[in-house]
Amino acid sequence: MFVLGFQGSPRRGGNTNFLLSKFMEAAGQSGAKTHSIFVDKKNIVPCKEYTVCEKKGFCPIDDDMTHKIYPLIRKADIIVVATPIFFYSTTAQMKALIDRCQLFWARKYRLKLTDPGQGTRQGFLLAIGATKGKNLFEGLKLTMTYFFDAVSAKYAGSLTYPGIEKPGDMKNHPAVSEDVRRAAEKLLKPFLKRKRILFACKDNACLSQMASAFMQHLGGDRFEILSGGLHAADSIYPAMEDVMQEIGLDMAFRKPQSIHSAVDGKPLDWLITMGDKTNIKSAKGVFTLHWDFPDHRGKQIGFIRKLRDDIKNRVAELIVQLKQ
Ligand SMILES: Cc1cc2nc3c(=O)[nH]c(=O)nc-3n(C[C@H](O)[C@H](O)[C@H](O)COP(=O)(O)O)c2cc1C
Repeated sequence: MFVLGFQGSPRRGGNTNFLLSKFMEAAGQSGAKTHSIFVDKKNIVPCKEYTVCEKKGFCPIDDDMTHKIYPLIRKADIIVVATPIFFYSTTAQMKALIDRCQLFWARKYRLKLTDPGQGTRQGFLLAIGATKGKNLFEGLKLTMTYFFDAVSAKYAGSLTYPGIEKPGDMKNHPAVSEDVRRAAEKLLKPFLKRKRILFACKDNACLSQMASAFMQHLGGDRFEILSGGLHAADSIYPAMEDVMQEIGLDMAFRKPQSIHSAVDGKPLDWLITMGDKTNIKSAKGVFTLHWDFPDHRGKQIGFIRKLRDDIKNRVAELIVQLKQ
């Protein structure tokens, strides 16, 4: 399970930083893999409204959004946004990141593509402000509703703290540690019950990517789905992305990874090896299956389409089998 946090304040040792760190610490202690991004330190160009995303499904701006943040958002099971209130909204840095997620909005609503993780991804808001007015967090919450929807996350809740101004105020809040621990536990609970299943192939560019996407789409609420390769390719197989797009599944922003980094040292329940020949070793106690597929490299699109449909059928059968 992967929790991605955005720290939206420019003040590194400030209140938001403390709040997010506490939250991520609690998530880590519950067994999640966590990663926090200090948004102010990233190169994020504000949206220029080129509208290429709406027509072609990608953003032509070449910065940290493209290379780092889009893939991480798509990988996340839980996205946590932490921000101070600046003029009744989020900070300019965080807002730039949010606006650039118009790309996900366009892929979802204009191009009608489904993110395979959309059934399970959750979003959570952490926010603080100096004043105490009753509408202090209302504008921000509205923005977050639309941000989480764009990135296919369910807005699961928030912790908001008024009256927090000077650095150290958040740290001295009497209830914050307990609030954060409880919120993180509640958010993570359904994820922790899932069985871990790894789809593995030679390079994690095609076969195991498709299988993991179908499994995520059809059974992501019950399984933590991982995919990896013996030797990770540099990028996913373009024909695979095309044939998945034909059936409305959005594979953009996926990156091949090694089996080692997919598994991340935690035990598996199931291992499905895929391809013509794999030398992937299983561990004791891991239920292992091998799905044989002929080599797809250099084959025509019709071949990849058939492969996609075969993999989809096998995944559907596996889900039925695992229910028994
Ligand atoms: C540019 C700016 C605008 C702010 N606007 C508001 C505001 O509209 N309402 C409010 O209650 N606090 C406002 N604040 C105060 C911050 O929300 C508050 O100091 C917060 O604790 C800062 O968090 P940090 O330490 O994580 O940066 C503003 C602060 C700055 C620097």
